[in-house]
Amino acid sequence: MDKFVIEGRVPLRGSVWISGSKNATLPLMAAALLADSPSTLYNVPDLRDTGTMADVLRFLGADVRFEDHVMMIDPAGFRNHEAPYDMVRKMRASVYVMGPMLAKLGRARVSMPGGCAIGPRPIDLHLKGFSALGAKMEIEHGYVVAQVEKLRGAEFSLSGAAGSSVGATCNVLMAAVLAEGETIIHGAAREPEVCELIAFLRKMGAEIEGAGERVLRVRGVKSLRGARHTIVADRIEAGTFMVAAAITNGDIIIKNAPLDHMDAVVSKLHEIGARVEQTPDGTRVWGSFENYSPTNIQTWTYPGFPTDMQAQFMALLALVPGTSIIRETIYVDRFLHAAELNRMGANIQVLNGMATIIGVPKLSGAPVMASDLRASAALVLGGLAAEGTTVVNRVYHIDRGYESIENKLTALGAKITRVSDDELEEAAGSAR
Ligand code: EPZ
Repeated sequence: MDKFVIEGRVPLRGSVWISGSKNATLPLMAAALLADSPSTLYNVPDLRDTGTMADVLRFLGADVRFEDHVMMIDPAGFRNHEAPYDMVRKMRASVYVMGPMLAKLGRARVSMPGGCAIGPRPIDLHLKGFSALGAKMEIEHGYVVAQVEKLRGAEFSLSGAAGSSVGATCNVLMAAVLAEGETIIHGAAREPEVCELIAFLRKMGAEIEGAGERVLRVRGVKSLRGARHTIVADRIEAGTFMVAAAITNGDIIIKNAPLDHMDAVVSKLHEIGARVEQTPDGTRVWGSFENYSPTNIQTWTYPGFPTDMQAQFMALLALVPGTSIIRETIYVDRFLHAAELNRMGANIQVLNGMATIIGVPKLSGAPVMASDLRASAALVLGGLAAEGTTVVNRVYHIDRGYESIENKLTALGAKITRVSDDELEEAAGSAR
């Protein structure tokens, strides 16, 4: 398994291009199954997760070609209504194929995703939507087995205990667009990635109103055609690089940050004392710790502060003098990075979905363990700021959602290298 070896305390300088959004790409890949002809997606990020989703689509019978960030998906061979356990457990977003299965094949047998490092990942709201559209469902041996003669439009809410659900909104929308009659979805998610899916579905011929609002209206159509779409830049990757500039006393330009979707993140950086400014070359982000103050963060559904940026801000606040509080309302267990940051000298206490962070003057490099995608980003950020060497283990987690992050950071002056286990063994051996 690969590791990152990072020498910290190098202020980042220079400019960086952000890749296409992982969380927009995954639902759009599934949506391509709904069409009667091929679709082409541009600016697709080259990630483990997009690779996994391509394998899932091929397993279902579609033809998927991916080269130089362009993905062609031909759904002509899409016949298989099964998404097996060993695929879904690798990537929870595989459940996105359920909506297209019901819409095109009238049946689905999809493994329940189970939990992951950031907490239980239920799909009850997905199933509530499919059931409202007329699907009959059973849970058998860890699988959802669903079937329907013909999906029929209905009116229902997809809001759950933690508010709206991105996944449920996307999945159920992909069923509703080919249902008979009108569907009204209350409590829909408003995330930019949901709006990207709606834009793509409309290019395919779907009739959907209310993108970005809490209520979506869908008029079912008989069929959909393939479409072309350019994926928007990844707002979470952009936010991660903004924090990378702030945590290293750096000064960088992000060439293509999707600022329209980043109000909550940018305003938090301003509150802390970092600077974010639009310039003719792109978005300039800079700051230094003598200007920083502690702050409080509560994650929320869009346009609130995104849970996917919580770990990265924890790494930054670990070094800000004073006490900061982070309350996680979307995934209350999403704090595995706290213990690893504490191993680097941070002073963070987690209790009942809330982290209390008392800023320390410095972090010291240490071997740390990545547990999930955004936690691993936080550990890389900690390593960039720490004194000495940090080794981040299990970087396959970060490869799920960041394309060549070590190359992008190196281009900004960071001292970060990817080594595989046997290279480390070899190096240790030669040192003996
Ligand atoms: C999407 O996950 C993202 N993943 C997540 O990003 C992101 O953290 C999350 O939305 C919230 O913004 C992708 O887009 C592939 P949800 P999703 O359904 O759709 C509860 C990353 O780091 N819920 O909006 O699974 C759920 O437990 C990943 O890129 C139910 O209760 O998230 C959570 O508390 C991590 N029942 C809340 O809703 C359901 O049926 C929000 O989950 C579904 C969800």
